[in-house]
Amino acid sequence: MTHPFAKEVSNLRHPDYPIDPIILNRWSPRSMTGEEMTDEELFPLFEAARWAPSSYNNQPWRFFYAKRGTPEWALFYDPQIEFNKGWTKNAAALVVAVSYKKFDHNQKPCRTHAFDTGAAWMALALEGTRRGYVVHGMEGFNYDQVKKNLELSEDYEVHAMIAIGKRAPKENLPQELQARELPSERKKIEAIAIQKKSSKP
Ligand SMILES: Cc1cc2nc3c(=O)[nH]c(=O)nc-3n(C[C@H](O)[C@H](O)[C@H](O)COP(=O)(O)O)c2cc1C
Repeated sequence: MTHPFAKEVSNLRHPDYPIDPIILNRWSPRSMTGEEMTDEELFPLFEAARWAPSSYNNQPWRFFYAKRGTPEWALFYDPQIEFNKGWTKNAAALVVAVSYKKFDHNQKPCRTHAFDTGAAWMALALEGTRRGYVVHGMEGFNYDQVKKNLELSEDYEVHAMIAIGKRAPKENLPQELQARELPSERKKIEAIAIQKKSSKP
């Protein structure tokens, strides 16, 4: 079956090499219906994150979440910048991606906690995309306030917030956001895949 995002994506994204369509189909829409999501709908996304690779299989990622309509929603929503509040108000869940910065087995610093948590968020995003949901990363919020709201010690780092919800037509967005409701392009492959040539003779 064709993915519901495939048409809008194939009009705008033209990879140089054939890759799995889910990678291209993942993008960050903002328009959501404002409907709730059940655990049965939401938890497969966390399940996908569970299976990400990490150094020593330490799994440093922690995904704190609040569902719309719960008292805890405000702990996640209120610290956002006004721009993000304008569209995340229709999300079903707000998730904060956090990592524990030490190895569980010896409490020594884990150098790759951010790298590993980035991999986990991508797995979550791909599974959410596969299921047709909006999964949209955000840095537009007060990190100190969120850390305080989540009662996190210095051993934890807050990386980003993620809005998850059921997709709606772009017309549901405020006027100024409708024109931006499009899959984006990317840098050329040569700019990111750099074959190292030694400068030594
Ligand atoms: C860590 C992170 C932070 C982001 N912060 C915001 C944000 O605060 N507000 C917003 O509307 N989009 C935000 N975005 C979405 C990016 O702008 C978007 O991922 C990027 O333009 C690439 O587009 P695509 O995800 O549709 O492929 C963020 C994305 C990531 C991964």
